Amino acid sequence: RPKVTLATLRKLYKRGEPITVMTAHDFPTGTLVDKAGIDMTLVGDSLAMVALGYTSTSEITLDEMLHHCRAVARGTRSSFLVADMPFGTYETSPEQAIANAVRIIKEGKAEAVKLEGGKEMAPTITRLTQVGVPVLGHIGLTPQRQASLGGYKVQGKTVAKAKAMIEDALALQQAGCYAIVLEAVPEPVARHITNILSIPTIGIGAGAGCSGQVLVQQDMLGLYGRVPRFCKTYRNLADEIVGALKEYSQDVKSGAFPAEEHCYPMPEAEHLKFMR
Ligand code: KIV
Ligand code: NA
Repeated sequence: RPKVTLATLRKLYKRGEPITVMTAHDFPTGTLVDKAGIDMTLVGDSLAMVALGYTSTSEITLDEMLHHCRAVARGTRSSFLVADMPFGTYETSPEQAIANAVRIIKEGKAEAVKLEGGKEMAPTITRLTQVGVPVLGHIGLTPQRQASLGGYKVQGKTVAKAKAMIEDALALQQAGCYAIVLEAVPEPVARHITNILSIPTIGIGAGAGCSGQVLVQQDMLGLYGRVPRFCKTYRNLADEIVGALKEYSQDVKSGAFPAEEHCYPMPEAEHLKFMR
């Protein structure tokens, strides 16, 4: 499969083909996403929760993200690779954002960065895109701000809030975002934003009106406990894995594993000498 670039994403958007995005947090999960032919791989800071066991995404450090991003990059051949900027690594100033985005590109081996926020982030995004860092925007439910939002709640449910979100989307487009993630947004609002923009929207809990979709891999594979309403659980791999681990445990206890086919024989003559 040829390398997916910003031009490829643009082409998909132009011809109305939904863009597929999936998270990955290490070498195997990155390899699987790439093998499945997903258009864009996101090293989302959701990995703080689903891979590191933190209670929120705000706790992850830049160094931790870089460590995971490099691992995903090693397994990524054709998918377009974007990584989240962790909470606290881009809000202070455009200079701070550039310095840390450059680390994500150079050390993390990502091709683009994602950051959360609306029009208040537009000057920073403008500077990032000016110096050649592609930026994926993220509005609606922004998990890094969950404390100030009062939890993980649907955003833009009133006309006033929906209008503010439209303003944010337009500001992010104007600032140069190549696409915008819409998280937990009522379907009509996401559809409207998608219609008025000339860049793709990537929905998560935002309905089918978006230009593409993203899910967290652990969620859709049933590897991380309770999932939000918007997630479709495609497999229950946790059950599969626990089942396999239990079988292994029983086999070891009963002596059924390892069997002869799992053992290395010795050449017959050597074996006989060895036994003497
Ligand atoms: O961190 C993440 O995985 C994300 C996606 C859910 C959009 O930001
Ligand atoms: Na994220």
